[in-house]
Amino acid sequence: MKNKFFIISALIIITLSIYLFRTAPEPLVDKSIKVGTQFPVSVLFKVVAAENAIARALYTSEIVGKGKKVGLEFSEQWKNKIIDAGPLPALFLREVSKNIEKSPVPLGLFLGSDFPIASTNKFSGQQIEEFNRLKAQLSPSFFYSADINRYVAMFPDYAVAEGCVSCHNEHSDSQKKDWKLDDVMGATTWLYPDKTVSLEDIVNAVSAFRTATLIAYNKYLDKCRSFKNPPEIADKWPEQGYFIPDSKTFFAAYAKEASLQTMNILLAPADFEIRPE
Ligand code: HEC
Repeated sequence: MKNKFFIISALIIITLSIYLFRTAPEPLVDKSIKVGTQFPVSVLFKVVAAENAIARALYTSEIVGKGKKVGLEFSEQWKNKIIDAGPLPALFLREVSKNIEKSPVPLGLFLGSDFPIASTNKFSGQQIEEFNRLKAQLSPSFFYSADINRYVAMFPDYAVAEGCVSCHNEHSDSQKKDWKLDDVMGATTWLYPDKTVSLEDIVNAVSAFRTATLIAYNKYLDKCRSFKNPPEIADKWPEQGYFIPDSKTFFAAYAKEASLQTMNILLAPADFEIRPE
């Protein structure tokens, strides 16, 4: 881990120096990130949120969406041994969140809503106010929640497909039956205890998120292997037939996009400085 951190920070520092040297006006040059530089926790949140958005989109569209077209099933009861199905996207995220909890990184994740299917996903306290603001402004919300002593970030979760709307409207436990396309159905919500973080904290959070995602994906692959008619697990995707990508293939597709996004967020000049209270 230490070694990996060293290599990643060295890479970031080298890239940043080149970037700042080549593109920045004079005064920015002195702001290059050194080991020990503190970032506002919002940078950590933006990085893990971008990583999660890519993993969620890949799983939702390439595995669930295209998988259904070739006969794969996804269900709320996916853990039931007699049901040959994988986890719905919200339940995949819940697996990822449980795996992060088991890691030493103090990062919390849940998909909340004001009208949830699962009552455990319902926002409470200050989160309700902040979620209303997020819905009005359609932008992420960052705040400190004194009741839980955590810094919190909420990112809108939109009804991007007809499937989101119809499944939630028809679900017997749903507290709202008139969801429409493009509604903000909830918010991916992240919790962290510290106001500022080091580059090492950010790298550790990304690493914990990626490991958690891989463990969740491997659990799904194990479930696939137990199906009466198991899909072939290979370097192929459901788009190509009755296949499920092996973890290496899935991870490569995810990491390629996620690494670029993460680097872009870390290099965004506006986030270099810790904003005053
Ligand atoms: C086939 C049904 C189905 C589809 C499709 C579906 N969901 Fe859900 N969704 C669920 C279920 C079931 C839960 C509750 C999971 C749990 O127990 O945490 C859930 C949970 C959620 C939550 C957390 C709050 C809550 O309702 O418990 C959000 C937000 C959410 N889904 C948004 C979406 C979005 C956005 C899409 C489309 C990209 C989508 N869902 C697609 C069934 C579905």
